Amino acid sequence: MEKYIEKFKSLKTPFYWYDMELLEETLAKVKQESDKYNFHVHYAIKANANLPILEKMVLHGFGSDCVSGNEITRSLEAGFKNNDIVFAGVGKSDEEICIGLENDIFCFNVESLPELEVINELASKLGKLAKIALRINPNVNASTHHYITTGLEENKFGINMWEMEDVLLALDKCKAINLIGLHFHIGSQIMDLLSFKGLCLRVNEIQEWFFARQIIVDHINVGGGLGIDYVHPDENSMPDFKSYFKLFHDFLEVRPKQKVHFELGRALVGQCGSLITKVLYVKNGVKTNFAIVDAGMTELIRPALYQATHTIENLTSKGCSKKYDVVGPICESSDCFGKALILPETKRGDILALRSTGAYGEVMASSYNLRSIALAHYSK
Ligand code: LLP
Repeated sequence: MEKYIEKFKSLKTPFYWYDMELLEETLAKVKQESDKYNFHVHYAIKANANLPILEKMVLHGFGSDCVSGNEITRSLEAGFKNNDIVFAGVGKSDEEICIGLENDIFCFNVESLPELEVINELASKLGKLAKIALRINPNVNASTHHYITTGLEENKFGINMWEMEDVLLALDKCKAINLIGLHFHIGSQIMDLLSFKGLCLRVNEIQEWFFARQIIVDHINVGGGLGIDYVHPDENSMPDFKSYFKLFHDFLEVRPKQKVHFELGRALVGQCGSLITKVLYVKNGVKTNFAIVDAGMTELIRPALYQATHTIENLTSKGCSKKYDVVGPICESSDCFGKALILPETKRGDILALRSTGAYGEVMASSYNLRSIALAHYSK
């Protein structure tokens, strides 16, 4: 990042910076490793929906994974093919379902029995046949932060296996629905690949259950969730995609002609983004010092919301090490990016980088305190 310091000094802070070379390297690796097994990757655009980033996904041949009507519209604008778009979400509105139907998207990931009935009704009205996958709650523990674990029976997501007989009965009556797949997603920022092994074994059992009822679907979607290294963003600038895809190849029992789909968000874009911010004031405290910066929880809410850690670097100081709490300007005590961090001596005007903010950073920004929304800049 050193080579960009002069550029950073000339730009209005705070802003998001995207290293497009790293993004390209990451996507090329994902493509290489997933192609080995003919796996198909959909990019979860909720992680970062900026057009230059989406365009790179399209160039690499990925599909998109959407959770709102606007995300479907944005995907189409960016050049994703309609037949490569999946649409998930526990609360799809009628209007959003119609956007999916009118654009003949690849698949709706259906999360409940009432949703199935509504899609059927809207599809018959529009004279469409809706392709759907049942999002099944596999009841697998992803061992991640409780706000971002999704695959347990107590979560609001997906259909539980004990409801499945009723769903199959309803499906028989839904003439405007074509069941093409099963969908699973167990959570996000998963660092232990064993959780995904647990998912594969559970999917195998669930497939047996369907097979016993003469149902074999063409598509198995195993969701996303692969985590990134927030502590060592340079040493581990990419997750271990090779082992990740190999694990699914080794443990997931795929029937002939079945295609396996993934919905990765964070793993594709997390490391390429940094939030660049300027130090406004340094306040000397008793136990620590406060570096008050011009970015806050309005630009990056992850630390306040999930106690997430983002590595912070002072790009403009080489002074002696001192201890700082790095805090934002918002009137909330949770507006804090890190406590008791060791940084080189920091002064007003220094530029800091909050690393690994490419996923769930810019997209979760708000204008609380009537703050302006930070801009994005790209390395090329
Ligand atoms: N598929 C489904 C159904 C999902 O719910 C999600 C993420 C993904 C795929 C993509 O997951 P990923 O590969 O990015 O882990 N805002 C939180 C993360 C929320 C994730 C929501 N669902 C954070 O900042 O950590």
